[in-house]
Amino acid sequence: MNILLLGSGGRENAFAWKMAQSKHCSQLFIAPGNGGTANFGKNVALKATDFKSIGDFALKNKIGMVVVGPEEPLVKGIHDYFLADERLKSIPVIGPQKAGAQLEGSKDFSKDFMQRHQIPTAAYRSFTKETLQEGLKYLENQSLPIVLKADGLAAGKGVLICENLAEAQAELKAMLADAKFGEASEKVVIEEFLSGIELSVFVLTDGHSYKILPEAKDYKRIGEGDTGLNTGGMGSVSPVSFAQGDFLKKVEERIVVPTIEGLKKDQIPYKGFIFIGLMNVNGDPYVIEYNVRMGDPETESVLPRIESDLVELLLGVAQENLQEKEFKTSTKTAVTVMLVAGGYPGAYEKGKPMSGMENVRHSMVFHAGTENDNGVIKTNGGRVIAVTSLQDNLFDAVQCAIADAGRIYYDGRYFRSDIGADLLKIN
Ligand code: AMP
Ligand code: GLY
Repeated sequence: MNILLLGSGGRENAFAWKMAQSKHCSQLFIAPGNGGTANFGKNVALKATDFKSIGDFALKNKIGMVVVGPEEPLVKGIHDYFLADERLKSIPVIGPQKAGAQLEGSKDFSKDFMQRHQIPTAAYRSFTKETLQEGLKYLENQSLPIVLKADGLAAGKGVLICENLAEAQAELKAMLADAKFGEASEKVVIEEFLSGIELSVFVLTDGHSYKILPEAKDYKRIGEGDTGLNTGGMGSVSPVSFAQGDFLKKVEERIVVPTIEGLKKDQIPYKGFIFIGLMNVNGDPYVIEYNVRMGDPETESVLPRIESDLVELLLGVAQENLQEKEFKTSTKTAVTVMLVAGGYPGAYEKGKPMSGMENVRHSMVFHAGTENDNGVIKTNGGRVIAVTSLQDNLFDAVQCAIADAGRIYYDGRYFRSDIGADLLKIN
């Protein structure tokens, strides 16, 4: 079967690596891909949101499955586009239709969904421009800090944690009255602040049954010791030592099952990944957010721990017989260290030639923001390379990933050398 993978990050490089190993994969195409995905298939210069060109390409190249990496094409309705076209509707798309993608595309929708299905999450209320005055008043009676979330997609920037009332009121006004995040902040969710440790749980579902994939912890801040600005993710670890046994059982019973059942009750078809961002509050899981895709860099730690054929599982999703598929995971630990461009997550330069990848010894190298410029691999994004080491234990995986990250070089290179260090202390 020919497979078309959409996206261009480290997540897609990890998907390409894993899917290319499948007995079901004859030719893999990645649109648009990056300097690393080309090692596992053919990059195609198409934007993941250009549905018409993607549909035409799929027909011309006898694509048997489309796997969607990022959220944007899903929220914009790529799956619906395929289903609405007589010639395309028999090509399975892995990723929900627009209705299901609202779990990520609208915070208000996802909070309402959780409330409707009694899924534990922070208490909240939503406000619009019309109810701004009410919102400002509501803030007066909330405990601090308080969380403000733009309803729509805001490139990961739409969540503000406000430490005092004046700041919260000013931000609410900026979002609702002055369109701080454009359309995305036409509605704002005001949410109780939850204190705990975060982790991500991933579910693959065909809409009926599900497989819980390995969980992971993401390191979001740019600086060591979790300091400084938020990023797309500076590293990840799987498994997460504080989230085993009882805790994972609670996640399944209180969150995963009601989520799948809730989608069914609401008659929302869902074929794809659900990424559940969780807060562990004194041993109890609360949902911080849903995403309708895999995480990045979590995927780079999660997929190396899946021993089963990923395409076989995705076929189970497409054919709604996921339940029958074997699902095996490794007990080893994966640690991913993200190499970023100097200046990221602020302004940064691109086009820096890279060296040393051939010296990596104990890790896999997934390209995130790179391009192949006539045979020379150059930086082409803020997050540049994900180095993942899969070892028998966390200590070894941390040591190997950090050592190998140091073997890759380009002007301005930066990475956090404390990925996983907090979990080593807990162990
Ligand atoms: P989100 O875009 O919903 O993932 O939010 C971004 C980040 O803000 C999360 O990863 C958390 O670190 C933080 N956050 C979001 N909601 C809350 C909350 N209710 N309490 C504490 N932190 C939160
Ligand atoms: N690493 C967080 C995300 O993919 O949203």
